[in-house]
Amino acid sequence: MTTAAPTVPLSHGTEMPLLGLGTARMDDAEAAEAVRTAIEDGYRLVDTAENYGNESGVGRGIRDAGVPREELFVTTKLNKRWHSVDGARQACENSLERLDLEYVDLLLIHWPNPDQDRYVEAFEGLLRLREDGLVRAVGTSNFKPHHLDRVLDATGVAPEVNQIRLSPYATRASTHAYHVAHGIVTEAWSPLKPATMLEDPVIAQVALRRGCSPAQVALRWLTQRGIVTVPKSGSRERRLENLRSVEVQLTPRDLDDISGLDRGEDQVTDSDEFGH
Ligand SMILES: NC(=O)c1ccc[n+]([C@@H]2O[C@H](COP(=O)([O-])OP(=O)(O)OC[C@H]3O[C@@H](n4cnc5c(N)ncnc54)[C@H](OP(=O)(O)O)[C@@H]3O)[C@@H](O)[C@H]2O)c1
Repeated sequence: MTTAAPTVPLSHGTEMPLLGLGTARMDDAEAAEAVRTAIEDGYRLVDTAENYGNESGVGRGIRDAGVPREELFVTTKLNKRWHSVDGARQACENSLERLDLEYVDLLLIHWPNPDQDRYVEAFEGLLRLREDGLVRAVGTSNFKPHHLDRVLDATGVAPEVNQIRLSPYATRASTHAYHVAHGIVTEAWSPLKPATMLEDPVIAQVALRRGCSPAQVALRWLTQRGIVTVPKSGSRERRLENLRSVEVQLTPRDLDDISGLDRGEDQVTDSDEFGH
């Protein structure tokens, strides 16, 4: 087993590991195997979603790993059809049944779907689930600052986490600054994409200086700044490599060099237009 990922405190009192396992595009069988071996190797955070269709496999992997439930941090996400107070409860109960768990550590609204305009109600539903102990932390995904403003204005409560696409090629500096100002932890999805980013000469130079891999540089650039991330890999070896990124120490210059790779918002899916 390797070094456990350090944790970051969430605003309602729980602690979230800074690095975990993403499971998008894994079927139940792949997810069960990946989750079990990842936990055996030291992972404590697992990211799934109703939309990935693999919550049963993720739950099986968790059970097969045999680690006490309270040592794990499990995130899932609900789809657009559940954007209401009752809907959020139904979605949560459905996910808990598929996962075969009594609570999830973090439930996210997967996309804001502003055309439907019911994400505030969905968030109110999440707050009730937190009161009732079915979820330990509440959050959003793919929300822009103006969506978060609406949630804050209506409920007076900020999501504890906002999971967004973020990588050295899409640094999302202003959105991250908004999160910091409101006590929201930023979580990065697709931290290793596009694959060509891992061949970028700047990332390669930092990797050479620190004696680590380009993927470890991209991941550590996130976690060293308090940003949670959940890289996905179908390979046990690469999952270990990704977890071991937390042992790398980047210098302020390394961090700045990598931040300088930003290509803006072009490759970030517009969540005012897309969602599910
Ligand atoms: N909230 C949302 O809307 C949203 C959207 C997308 C994703 N997510 C979450 O974020 C997670 C991560 O995002 P992602 O799966 O899109 O992309 P990612 O984790 O950035 O990249 C995955 C790709 O990188 C490769 N890879 C993994 N580790 C590597 C390494 N050490 N060296 C070289 N290549 C490596 C993987 O290949 P192999 O599998 O062959 O190793 C795979 O092709 C998802 O699994 C999901 O849980 C959330």
